[in-house]
This record gives sequence, C-alpha cells and structure tokens, in this order.
Amino acid sequence: MAQRRMMEELSWDAFSSLPLEARAPYFLQSSGRPYHCVIAQQFDRECLDHLCDLATRIRRIAKSKVGMDFLSSLMRNKRAMLYFTQPSTRTFLSFFSACQILGFSPAEVRDTSISSEMKGETKEDTIRTFSSFFDLIIMRTPMQGFAEQMAWMISRTERPVPIINAGSGKDQHPTQALLDIYTLERSFEHTGGIDGKTVLFCGDLLRGRTVRSLSGLLTQYNNVKQIFAAPDCLQIGQDILDMLKAKGIEYEITNDFKGHVKDADAVYMTRIQDEWDTKPGESATMSYKHEDYWFTGDDLKNLSPKGVIMHPLPRRQEISTDCDDDPRAVYWRQERNGMWIRAALIATIFCRDQEITQYYMLNNR
Ligand code: CP
Repeated sequence: MAQRRMMEELSWDAFSSLPLEARAPYFLQSSGRPYHCVIAQQFDRECLDHLCDLATRIRRIAKSKVGMDFLSSLMRNKRAMLYFTQPSTRTFLSFFSACQILGFSPAEVRDTSISSEMKGETKEDTIRTFSSFFDLIIMRTPMQGFAEQMAWMISRTERPVPIINAGSGKDQHPTQALLDIYTLERSFEHTGGIDGKTVLFCGDLLRGRTVRSLSGLLTQYNNVKQIFAAPDCLQIGQDILDMLKAKGIEYEITNDFKGHVKDADAVYMTRIQDEWDTKPGESATMSYKHEDYWFTGDDLKNLSPKGVIMHPLPRRQEISTDCDDDPRAVYWRQERNGMWIRAALIATIFCRDQEITQYYMLNNR
C-alpha cells in the first residue's frame, strides 16, 4: 500500500517535525480518499464536498427500513473499536451509531482501569492489540498528537487499520470540524453556501480543539472571514493566526463578542475547557467578565435573520436555554449531523461511498 510505504520511509521524529500540510498526504489512500483521519489539514474542498453530499445521501437513505437494511449490509463483516480514554457523550454515541448504521459491530474501551494498561501495558501496545481484532480504531485521548503517532505506528505493522481521531488533547478534533462544516453547509444551503460568510468564534479559543480544527477547514472555502472573540487569556493560538495569515485569510481578534454578533453569519460558542486548568478552579478565577462571552436571548435580536448559533456541546452558561427554540439555534441539529458525517467518513475510508451513491441515485432521487 502506497500510504504504508510512505510511512516506512520516515521515523516518527522526522515525520512529526514536518509541517501539518506536508504530513496530510500520508493519511490518504492513493485514490485521495482518507485512510486515517487524524488532522483537519488532510481534508481539501473536494473531499469536504464529497463527505457532505454522502452524509446527505446516507441520511435520506436511512429514512426507510429498506434503506437502513441496505446501509447495514455494507460492512456487516467489520468490527470497530471505540477507545475513549477521555469523557465523551455525543462523539462516542454518534460514532457508535454511525458504525451500527453501516453494519459494523462496535466494541468499546472507555475505562482503562479494567484493561491491561493497569498491568503496565503501554498505550502503543494496546492500540496494536486492537488491530489484531478490529478493522477500525476510533480514539479519543487527552494526549496531543497521540492519534497521529498511532496512525504512523500502525501503518508500519503487518496489520494496518484506519485510525480516526475523535479528539486529541487541546489540539485537534477533526470529525467535530467535519460535522460543523456539514451543519454550515445545510444551514446556508439556500443562501450561497459557506463561501463569503463570516464565522464568529467565542469562548475558550486557546484550549478548544474544535475551534482549532474548524478554523483550518474553513480555509478551504472562498472569502470566509473568521472573528475570534475571547478575553486575552483565552484567545486563539498564534499558530492558528499564522496559518490564516500564510493563506491570506481575513481574520480579526477581539474582546468585544457582543458587538460583533451583528457581523456574523454563524456564531460558534464554546465552553470554558477547565479540564485543562493547571490549578483546580483556575478558569473560574480568571479576571474577565465571564458573562461578556455568553449568548443570551438579548443577543438574538442582533443576529442576522439568516444567521445560525452553533456549539460543539456540552454547554454550560454560554448559550441560555431561552435561545433553544429560535430557528437559528442549530446546535441540536449539529449534534445529530455528527452521526451522518461520521458514517460518510467511515464509508469513504472503506471505499463503500460509490455503492451508497449508486443506491441513492436508483432509489432516493
Ligand atoms: N463535542 C464533543 O466532542 O462532545 P463530547 O465531548 O460529548 O463527545
């Protein structure tokens, strides 16, 4: 396999010191389809359009029993391991559901205290053990870069299997970014798509991996402006700003969230990621007015009638519940979109995308 040969050429140190864009092709199949899914930078516009179209086809096919029977026949002989060593509700459940939709038998390890890691087995050996029994590994980890390192490692073994990063450290959450893109595509379907829109990010942008991955994917669209609204202590990383600058993307950083709601087509709220606090309670005592970065019912009147409010969830106070019934609040649809786009991603990795499209053309148009 070309992808494996490429991995074998480089040590991990040499590989991981390459710029992100240079690493991205190593995670693709020779057809250009993703093999591993570990960093947002591996997705180009063509692949994003493909995944969004396929997600819609799967979603429509799944409306009927006969359609569900077709989808679940596609990979009935495959097994998937969901290795989640960090808390998760919707990423775990949407991957679990996506696997079931496509016929995979999903299994899980969420509590390493009952795995052989408790006996001193390394995480590397644990992942390699999964590849002895499963055809796909989906993993969430608090360790930045670990999913990528495991993709590199497993590609060099006798039994390589695809690895999907379901969130790694403070750095990347590429499948969340895919579902965010799919949600934006669906939301702006009748208003020209994502091109030309303004996305206003708010909250803990320093430690929020969803924003970092989505910011990268948005660069694949034309003339999308990105505004980062956060207190100085939680502002977006300089590496993201450098990436936007290098690509000639228009962006703005500000402390004035409320004043920018009127400029946004999409408002993307995030919670304080206090699980990364160096001292317990550190986030709560940070000296800024926390409510300045909350979206309330009063902010609805400043949002464009065709705008949307998004959130990767879970939320705390960042969006008041009195916004939930507004048609522009799309975060619950966004969550469900995760199941469809993750099914599309898995089907594409396993090269069943064309079969799904053929079925759709014959039965669902
Ligand atoms: N958005 C997200 O990653 O949610 P979970 O932590 O519940 O999976």
